[in-house]
Amino acid sequence: MNANTRIADFLKQFPAHGLHTIKLKDLLSLRDAANFQRDIVTTFPPVTIGSVTLVDQIVLLCLDELLAPERILEIGTFQGFTTRLFAKNSAANTIYSVDLPAVQESILASPDAAKVLSDGDYNDDFLRDVQNRSGEVYLAGLAAAERQRIKLVKQDSTTIDFGQAFGSVDFVFIDGGHHYDIVRSDTEKSLAILGKGVVVWHDFSSGIHSDVTRYLTERAAENRIFHVNGSLCAFQLIGF
Ligand SMILES: C[S@@+](CC[C@H](N)C(=O)[O-])C[C@H]1O[C@@H](n2cnc3c(N)ncnc32)[C@H](O)[C@@H]1O
Repeated sequence: MNANTRIADFLKQFPAHGLHTIKLKDLLSLRDAANFQRDIVTTFPPVTIGSVTLVDQIVLLCLDELLAPERILEIGTFQGFTTRLFAKNSAANTIYSVDLPAVQESILASPDAAKVLSDGDYNDDFLRDVQNRSGEVYLAGLAAAERQRIKLVKQDSTTIDFGQAFGSVDFVFIDGGHHYDIVRSDTEKSLAILGKGVVVWHDFSSGIHSDVTRYLTERAAENRIFHVNGSLCAFQLIGF
């Protein structure tokens, strides 16, 4: 059974709208048996805030394997952890990754650690500062062939003309600004250039970024959104 048929059979089990919580096993069960012995390559999950867990990584790589995208768009490069994950494991020929341009001044002069962990907008500002200071440290040491497939775009995603900048894509990972208006803008602009594929949102059900959960809960009134239990990833399959 090919991937399209497996995906179609999977989707038939769920109403065409709503937020559906699935197990990681449900996603793993969609994999082609021919790939069961396939190795994946990753680094240990960072212990600092701002990136993904091992379960999140498996969700991303499962969807990548299932859909075999040629062109990935990631919004929110941060230190390049997930960009590296895609470069190491995906067969995509292009991986766009968007983050804000460098600035001289920090947004937060002396960050309040408790507020970083409790306030979504403050957390976003903290991560913008970390990104600005550290750059894409996880992209260091990539092989030339891996690095060449990555196109870093340094611009506020809400000001980018997606069609002009990226053409069409078939896999989108939205993990940039977590404010409601930014998540909605990133989603709508991504969907406009995605014919068939998947959109994955990070930070669904996160205690800090409640706007992502609110936006997706509203979106689920007319769309079939999946949340993988035990992860912060939600996704929607498009064009199946
Ligand atoms: C949570 S981090 C991304 C983490 C990364 N995907 C990973 O797992 O390693 C969010 C990033 O989005 C960037 N960001 C925030 N608002 C943005 C915007 N409007 N446009 C582009 N990037 C933005 C921040 O600078 C930060 O580096």
